[in-house]
Amino acid sequence: MLLHNQISIPLRTPLIPIKPTPKHQPKNAAVFAQQRNPPPLATNFSISDESLSSRGFALHRTIDKLNLDHLNTVFVAVGFPRRDTGKIRLALEHTDALLWVEYEKTKRPVAFARATGDGVFNAIIWDVVVDPSFQGIGLGKAVMERIITALLEKGITNIVLYSEPRVLGFYRPMGFVADPDGIRGMVYYKKQKKKK
Ligand SMILES: CC(C)(COP(=O)(O)OP(=O)(O)OC[C@H]1O[C@@H](n2cnc3c(N)ncnc32)[C@H](O)[C@@H]1OP(=O)(O)O)[C@@H](O)C(=O)NCCC(=O)NCCS
Repeated sequence: MLLHNQISIPLRTPLIPIKPTPKHQPKNAAVFAQQRNPPPLATNFSISDESLSSRGFALHRTIDKLNLDHLNTVFVAVGFPRRDTGKIRLALEHTDALLWVEYEKTKRPVAFARATGDGVFNAIIWDVVVDPSFQGIGLGKAVMERIITALLEKGITNIVLYSEPRVLGFYRPMGFVADPDGIRGMVYYKKQKKKK
């Protein structure tokens, strides 16, 4: 989905189902759209940092203390394919903005989101996950609000993401929409030739 800012350059991508999902893509890469009318830059989050902290959750914006095996476990728990931890590290090192929530009692990551891009105009949000045991208490919205704010503060106005159809209702209230002009996102999908 695409975060469409009123002041953005006209780079829009529509909400379209992409089937089948390529094997090399995480399972969440199914629908592509953009956000319209993003929330104001004010740090008017649905859950404040203080409130998260009082409930035992710590916010982190670097991977310094992030155990990538534990993160991988969360990915797998929500249905993403298990990925090589070394590759995850490399991907995160090439990530422009990330945010994860640590449950201080267990020291484990329970919510995560990240964005890649060119650092100026465009960003794509990836890997939005909340540990199933911690879903439904606002952590997904908390990480998304903060990632979007971090991107907008950098002046990045073209913000997009892929969404499984069942999660569209999660992103829409944050301002993500299909492209109203019908511009289509596409994904490279070509079967590998079998080696002889
Ligand atoms: C989607 C996901 C990140 C949401 O995280 P969460 O912490 O459970 O969501 P929150 O508690 O922050 O919910 C915020 C709001 O979104 C709503 N919401 C959450 N999941 C939703 C869904 N699948 N469809 C519609 N609305 C949803 C909540 O009801 C809540 O509404 P409110 O603000 O009116 O109270 C989480 O369920 C998850 O990790 N799912 C599996 C992985 C996944 O599908 N990731 C997205 C890939 S595209």
